[in-house]
Amino acid sequence: MEATSPVDRLLHITDVHFWRIAYNPLRLMNKRFLGNANVALRRSRHVHLEHAEAFADHAAATGIRTVVLGGDFTSTALDEEFALAADFLRGLRERGLNVHIVPGNHDCYTFEAVRARRFEQHLAEFIPPGGYPARVELPGGTPLILVSTVCPNVVTSRGRITDAEIADTLALVKGAPPGPVIVAGHYPLVHRTETWHSPPARQLRNARTFRAALGAAGRPVLYLAGHVHRFSWLDDPEYPDLRHLTTAAFLLHRPREATAGAFTEAAVCADGFSAWRHEYRDAWRREPLA
Ligand SMILES: [Fe+2]
Ligand SMILES: [Fe+2]
Repeated sequence: MEATSPVDRLLHITDVHFWRIAYNPLRLMNKRFLGNANVALRRSRHVHLEHAEAFADHAAATGIRTVVLGGDFTSTALDEEFALAADFLRGLRERGLNVHIVPGNHDCYTFEAVRARRFEQHLAEFIPPGGYPARVELPGGTPLILVSTVCPNVVTSRGRITDAEIADTLALVKGAPPGPVIVAGHYPLVHRTETWHSPPARQLRNARTFRAALGAAGRPVLYLAGHVHRFSWLDDPEYPDLRHLTTAAFLLHRPREATAGAFTEAAVCADGFSAWRHEYRDAWRREPLA
């Protein structure tokens, strides 16, 4: 499974979706009306926040000291939801983990939340000082590049990355020391795998251009994404150096599959990447992703 011993290991936790239901009608104008109904009807039943601390204990017990969080910390970008997310991230840090984050579309759910810079205000201590994209170095020397792929929308859940941001990201990839690189965003760069399909209203605009740029970077690239709430591990059919990983939502109950939470463990070796899904059923199980 691992041809050479890993130089770095990391955890990928995503789509935690802390939620609070807003009852004040003034806070329900705009898209939040839809989002609030969704929280009231679905999120509150299926995202079990009471597991967050125990699951964080389990993640820390893996002994891995790097965690990348793939966005959608909140459900409708409320201050109260961000406060819960900030406490959760501080808790990971207190457990000894180095915490890296990118935003999800639910973290900029309304234009008002973006104007108020709620993500930046609440999670400032975890955001790269110069903003996104940013490159950090993992303890074994692997470059990790963090990318923002999100924007508010009136109705849809589409993401965005500009040509200039793609160029900046590619410059960070190419400027890193030789070897494998990890790039983390919120939106997948492909729209269909064996385990999920993303309709146009939930896709990243410009995904094709971003994928082509990473695929032609001339080095092994692992692209981490959330958003689809499902595991997948895909060797890019067109770009042999590019691999795609999506991770299921951290606290999501899926009664039909008898799962109640999930995250990914990934390893970087000199010659590429390996990954394992961690899923909570009656207990935590760890299985290779392939
Ligand atoms: Fe999500
Ligand atoms: Fe999302």
